[in-house]
Amino acid sequence: MISKQQIDEIKYRNDIEDVISQYVNLKRAGSNTNGLCPFHSEKSPSFTVYKSSQSFYCFGCGAGGDVITFIMKAENLDYRDALEFLAKRAGITLIEDDRDRDQGMRRTRVLEMNREAARFFHNNLKNSPEALQYLSQRGLDGATIKHFGLGYATESFGALTDHMHKLGYTDEELKTAFLAGISQKSGRAYDYFRKRVIFPIINTSGEVIAFGGRIIDDTKPKYLNTSDTPAFKKSKNLFALNYAKNYCAEKMILCEGYMDVIALHAAGFQNAVATLGTALTPDQARLMKKYTKTVLISYDSDEAGQKAADRAFAILSEAGLETRILRMNGAKDPDEYIRKFGKVGFQKIIDGGLTRFDYKFAAILAENDISTTEGRVKAAALAVEEIARTSSTVERDIYIGQASQKLNVPGESIKRDVEKLISLRRRKVQREQHDKIVLDSQGYGDRVNPDKIKNLRANAAEETILGIMLKFPEYIGMVNKGEFELCEEDFVSEFSRRVFKALTEAGEDFDLGTLNSEFNESEMSRLVKMQIAREGLTVNPVLFKDSINTLREAKQHSELSIEDIINKKRKQSNT
Ligand code: GTP
Ligand code: MN
Repeated sequence: MISKQQIDEIKYRNDIEDVISQYVNLKRAGSNTNGLCPFHSEKSPSFTVYKSSQSFYCFGCGAGGDVITFIMKAENLDYRDALEFLAKRAGITLIEDDRDRDQGMRRTRVLEMNREAARFFHNNLKNSPEALQYLSQRGLDGATIKHFGLGYATESFGALTDHMHKLGYTDEELKTAFLAGISQKSGRAYDYFRKRVIFPIINTSGEVIAFGGRIIDDTKPKYLNTSDTPAFKKSKNLFALNYAKNYCAEKMILCEGYMDVIALHAAGFQNAVATLGTALTPDQARLMKKYTKTVLISYDSDEAGQKAADRAFAILSEAGLETRILRMNGAKDPDEYIRKFGKVGFQKIIDGGLTRFDYKFAAILAENDISTTEGRVKAAALAVEEIARTSSTVERDIYIGQASQKLNVPGESIKRDVEKLISLRRRKVQREQHDKIVLDSQGYGDRVNPDKIKNLRANAAEETILGIMLKFPEYIGMVNKGEFELCEEDFVSEFSRRVFKALTEAGEDFDLGTLNSEFNESEMSRLVKMQIAREGLTVNPVLFKDSINTLREAKQHSELSIEDIINKKRKQSNT
């Protein structure tokens, strides 16, 4: 951990308004400021920055925290790197203490192992004709193999493990790096990747953070990937971003597979990246947004690929990226497309990149026979559905024009149907939001605090108590001095207990900043929500004491009622 004093210093020198105003256009509203939330797309500002408590909260998406949480989210950094980022911004040099150094050392150690392993796998290629043959059969030349540092893990169970042992790495370390598994029977380490072509995954700082491995025959699974390690989180990285970052100021191509990316780069499209064996995540979308404006989704042309493209489209738009879908007629994926139609062919589909509407409309036209009345009616209805998804009026009018022309239906009637559908959907959303608020208030589906529903009254009291402690840390001091009768066991929900423990351990000069390492993003948001719900409150020991009493009562009540139920059951079984 970085010391509390340093975190205080970092926060003191990075005023939350200053920092956030570099990302969000903030307007003053009383003692606070607000603007459009950078974490979800919205048209009216629900993102508020509280200068007095140095925190932020978005009433639209529920994101919240302090300046450190903000940087973690906005710059896609973990806690440690966010501190580094803010320290640098303020010209402070971070000094690490032991625990932190341990973490950093584990990461460094994994990175060292990965570099060694990458070299080892690459050297294997020379003596593995089967792998070289596989790669050449897939159309990769020597230059491409070298550029991506591809390698080969042989069939042996111990080749890499033995090599790494010689360099002083232990079984335990190899397991942490996902380079080896430990056999349940013998307790010995064995190579994780075997008989696989290896794709090193390299981050934008040039570090080998993970590997993907493709089997060279038909054995399953086709791909194995490194799971999360101290040096790698697959949901926050992209394959080939280390190269693509220099070629993507305007456009970036997003693919599903390593081989697609490699084929694209080899053909001169060096702005291509891929996810790492999972669906696209919001973190990855934010990462892309740091480097580019427009993302061209270039997924497999099969149904699974198209479904994934739909979801990716939504995530990318949500992150504020322009998005186009590339349609690959006559090939299953970009790799195959390039091989069949070459560089020129692929450039054509880039130039013909479709907006979501174009893309959907083309499919609608292909799937319905518009020479029949029935087909035209169906196609028009489907087109209306798609047009109604578009939020810009200008864009909608353009699409209405296109649909009207192609389907030979007056634009006016399409427009009326679109508007009808929009207001229907709006009402549905309002109803759902209303239902959600009702359910939320009853504690249903609270993922941060799943215990809430078990005792709503107790939980309301807990939130008041903790909210006051968060807003006025002097209460933490009073609680610690024993001025109130309150301890961890008094709390009903697990989450409240954790918060109480963290606060009392941090003591009177607690700051949200230190909690970022212990609480995840949604939990941080909840802490800020509890805190800002006490806006306008003044120090009021009576309220605090009352809430403690309410908590006691509510807790006892729920305990009694459980006893009641048990007693009832007993009676029932006796008779
Ligand atoms: P090939 O061309 O057959 O080598 O594969 P591809 O690049 O066309 O990949 P495919 O479309 O089959 O899958 C896309 C991506 O999903 C791959 O690059 C992998 O990252 C991932 N993937 C595919 N199959 C598996 C699997 O069996 N397990 C895991 N974990 N990931 C997989
Ligand atoms: Mn493929």
